[in-house]
Amino acid sequence: MNTEIIKVSPDNISASLSDIERAADILKRGGLVVFPTETVYGLGGDATNPTSAEKIFAAKGRPKDNPLIIHIEKPSDAEIYAVTSPLYYRLAEKFMPGPLTVIMESKDTIPYETRGGLSTVAVRCPENPIARAFIAAAGVAVAAPSANLSGSPSPTNAPHVIDDMYGRVNVIIDGGECDFGLESTIVKIEDDSTVTLLRPGRITPDELSLICNVNVASAVTSELKAGEVALSPGMKYRHYAPKAPLLLLDGTPSDAVEYIMAQEHEKIAVLTYSEDYQYFSKNLPHITLYDMGSVNNECVQAHELFRILRDADKEKFDVIYAPLPRMEGIGLALYNRLIRAAAHTIVNIRGYSK
Ligand code: TXA
Ligand code: MG
Repeated sequence: MNTEIIKVSPDNISASLSDIERAADILKRGGLVVFPTETVYGLGGDATNPTSAEKIFAAKGRPKDNPLIIHIEKPSDAEIYAVTSPLYYRLAEKFMPGPLTVIMESKDTIPYETRGGLSTVAVRCPENPIARAFIAAAGVAVAAPSANLSGSPSPTNAPHVIDDMYGRVNVIIDGGECDFGLESTIVKIEDDSTVTLLRPGRITPDELSLICNVNVASAVTSELKAGEVALSPGMKYRHYAPKAPLLLLDGTPSDAVEYIMAQEHEKIAVLTYSEDYQYFSKNLPHITLYDMGSVNNECVQAHELFRILRDADKEKFDVIYAPLPRMEGIGLALYNRLIRAAAHTIVNIRGYSK
């Protein structure tokens, strides 16, 4: 398939409006269009067209029972596609447009193919101005999973998208770097006052708690047990898997240095906080270091994580080590993505340096 790349500056969308309209036209005629959002790039198709959903699954190599998020222009458009409730509107008032996805019962405007056979549908109203202009031009909900091949990290810039999707989609809208860099927070509405958090993101449990009760699904922080049913089909698949084994080290930087020195790997990568960079490079000069940003700046870490995992994948390391994030605030989203990338391998190295 021929893939057209359209460059759009988020600061001057009006200059690209005719290109955005042309891309929206291609989507309405059943084509696939990759577009930027504030979280990660999305692989978009017409959410009301079952054939578009099938094309999305084929382009990603994604199992068909893993449903797609639908992207709408404004919160009230959810009426067309989902059974809304006062709680939906309270969440929308506070967090939309923005990186929050809300799961509700679906209306039959959304075909089974888009929702992976479930009775529910996931609804998101993004805030990225290019995404908004594109959805508005489409005039229909845009079904979009992250625009990566199934199993690799979500793309946060156009080169990532081109690596995975060139030749598989009709159009790639290059809108530069995604702001946040991890996928949206997903909640399921349970009743008038409660949601279940299915995937952590930039909107944290504390922020959601200002609006309603928040249950955190156990799969957010731990592995599904044998026989346990995934609340979100995506939870049961291994995600964001780098080619080299990734191990999460639970201990101090000096524990990590001692631990890594005692291992017999040759080509080693370490993800480190900026504060620890010098310490690692001095004590382990033979390893490759990736700076994730300051330990206290989780937004920078979120922005860097998938880029680092993609870069590291190109280097054929024997092993990759990363620190275990705190499970608080945005740290919970980092923790959730890293334990999946590490297939839940956490090594307790506390006290190793003594
Ligand atoms: O930030 C994001 O959410 C990005 C951008 C493009 O909007 N999209 C994204 O989509 O991350 P995707 O498909 O890669 O991840 C969506 C997750 C999947 O794990 C899927 O199983 C889950 O949402 N999901 C979708 N619909 C669902 C539903 N009705 N019930 C439960 N889980 C659902
Ligand atoms: Mg994804």
